[in-house]
Amino acid sequence: MTTASPDKFIDGRAIAALIHRELAQRVAELRKRGTVPGLAFVRVGEDPASRVYVGRKEKACADLGIVSQTHVLPEKTPETELLSLIAQLNADPRLHGILVQAPLPKPIRESVVYAAVLPHKDVDGFHPINVGKLMLGDATGFRPCTPAGICELLVRSQVSTDGAEVVILGRGNIVGKPMAALLCQKGAGANATVTLCHSATRDIAAHCRRADILIAALGVPEFVKADMVRPGAVVIDVGVNRVEGRLVGDVDFAEVLKVAGKITPNPGGVGPMTIAMLLQNTVRAAELAL
Ligand code: GUN
Repeated sequence: MTTASPDKFIDGRAIAALIHRELAQRVAELRKRGTVPGLAFVRVGEDPASRVYVGRKEKACADLGIVSQTHVLPEKTPETELLSLIAQLNADPRLHGILVQAPLPKPIRESVVYAAVLPHKDVDGFHPINVGKLMLGDATGFRPCTPAGICELLVRSQVSTDGAEVVILGRGNIVGKPMAALLCQKGAGANATVTLCHSATRDIAAHCRRADILIAALGVPEFVKADMVRPGAVVIDVGVNRVEGRLVGDVDFAEVLKVAGKITPNPGGVGPMTIAMLLQNTVRAAELAL
């Protein structure tokens, strides 16, 4: 039996806890100056995963001293009604951030909804202005939480991306595409050679085997097998898939663990970092509003 050394695991829970402690000091400073950071959550419909995610984010806010409010709208809410709620939240000076949980039920257009959130309250980094700033390497924008969290995980686990071959699986707007944009920037914590693979990529396994760092965000249960991983590579599993009542990632963890140099546990890897980055963006939004 192969046993993993403890430093093989990239402990997202421990790193997120460290960031929470750093943020607690910034929240205390804001409160001293008369500002209580405020964040609004909007959830449309009863998607079970979204309920769980928003619940976790609410709890993290409460633990840190960020005041949050949650608006739950029925599945059949017209887009216009959601847009008027966003306009109301945009105008509320007590709110520094607004998060509309994805996915949104059809026929609501996510692009229209995310463009309606004021860019300086867009703590998700989904507004076209923040997406544009991300592409331009302009650090005044908000970085989307999951890719930003993965960058933090790598930096704080002493995984260098400088000149590294990074292969990302999945081209979604929430993880894959912004992850590629972040890692190919010029500068510390980036400077990677990035390959973005997707459903039309030929011979994905061959791309994966070249990776120093492999990031799986395609939403296919246990897609990444041990023979797709170069021995010693760093493997980041973003996937959250429910299979027969069991939660599994996009990586076949038990097998890949044997060949990877470092790997994120799942749960306990990327998930807590997404929340930590949401808190960080919200604290920063409150600081900028001062
Ligand atoms: N759904 C899955 N991840 C996210 C996220 O980071 N933000 C929002 N708003 N919805 C999500």
